[in-house]
Amino acid sequence: MSPFQTLKLPNGQTIGNRIAKAAMEENLADADHSPDRALFRLYQAWAEGEAGLLLTGNVMIDRRAMTGPGGVVLEDERHLQRFRQWADIGRAGGAQFWMQLNHPGRQTMANLGQQALAPSAVALDLGSFSKMFAEPKPMTEDDIEDVIRRFATSAALSEKAGFTGVQIHAAHGYLISQFLSPLTNRRTDRWGGTLENRARLLLDVVRAVRKAVSPQFCVAVKLNSADFQRGGFDADDARQVIEWLNDQRIDLLELSGGSYEAPAMQGEARDGRTLAREAYFLEMAGELASVANMPVMVTGGIRRLPIVEQVLDSGIDMAGIGTALAVEPLLVKHWREGQNSHPQLPPIRWKRKPLAALASMAVVKFQLQRLSRGRTTQPQVSAIWALILDRLYIARRTKQYRQAMGK
Ligand SMILES: Cc1cc2nc3c(=O)[nH]c(=O)nc-3n(C[C@H](O)[C@H](O)[C@H](O)COP(=O)(O)O)c2cc1C
Repeated sequence: MSPFQTLKLPNGQTIGNRIAKAAMEENLADADHSPDRALFRLYQAWAEGEAGLLLTGNVMIDRRAMTGPGGVVLEDERHLQRFRQWADIGRAGGAQFWMQLNHPGRQTMANLGQQALAPSAVALDLGSFSKMFAEPKPMTEDDIEDVIRRFATSAALSEKAGFTGVQIHAAHGYLISQFLSPLTNRRTDRWGGTLENRARLLLDVVRAVRKAVSPQFCVAVKLNSADFQRGGFDADDARQVIEWLNDQRIDLLELSGGSYEAPAMQGEARDGRTLAREAYFLEMAGELASVANMPVMVTGGIRRLPIVEQVLDSGIDMAGIGTALAVEPLLVKHWREGQNSHPQLPPIRWKRKPLAALASMAVVKFQLQRLSRGRTTQPQVSAIWALILDRLYIARRTKQYRQAMGK
């Protein structure tokens, strides 16, 4: 199938082609967590790049619960005008522009100074790096209801600002994904135990969001095809959750995988599995897509047009691209014009896996920072240099965050 065919969504909306810019956290908000010039410039580059769908990096539903400092937060109307500007810029080239909504749960840095909330008091295990993350407190019933309300509020606000949809982040080991996994969810109440109970938060969030927005507003979910950890959320669990999502008027399901502990989204599993180097969730996604009534998108390792075609020919509806679009924001336009681009970053083969994972994120963020200043990308940047710059930047933004939050 041609990547340049349109896709009609269940709610009647259309995506102009089959390629999406996947969510990538930018850490480029202003000191009060609002989008401003840096994000505007970055998304202008992507809007000119002709992907049919642009997803924002994860936007927080609560400024006390951040995946990192410098993140965008949308919890009230205080900066709605700036969000309007951002939405206009993202949509200027005709793309659908969806906001990814997220709550980090336990995957939040200890030095942000906030009490982390999670389904259970199970801290991240990253060996000598574990202490960098906050010790989580099990959520009360009120905490859980508050999170559900917040997802709905942020979704309604994003519609008001002019975004055309939202994506609920239920993957990568963040809060909803923590509820789904028996390794992190040890609860014995109606939010834990059976898969039905563990999926309750996701399904309640989806229902609340759908109720808070109009029918033509798109609602998507990003779900792990598996956590890639022994005893974690696996493909059978994902199949069952997708069957439940089939009843929920979801417009697009994005399949990914992994968490901070097992960064499969970067092509690394922790359960002994070797992931294919390109389109590495395709095999699992193909099986899961067969039970999904809604269109399905796969993200991870895609950077060449023939691979996009392979993904689509396998019955998947959309191909999501992160890293390659950070290196070459006009990639889809270039492909449409017949160029054979295949942007790639040099692999980082450091022995200390958590450090290598941080460095590969830093190299991508280095590209986002350059684009946000109106500069060209620099894929050959040294990984160590990018990591040092990223750590200094994060330290400065962390200090700014703590001051602003009175921590
Ligand atoms: C710098 C960076 C930030 C990311 N931030 C997010 C995020 O905010 N939300 C999300 O769902 N995935 C995030 N991801 C994961 C990507 O969406 C994608 O699943 C992953 O990078 C694999 O796709 P790729 O090989 O095309 O990059 C991020 C990835 C990178 C490299």
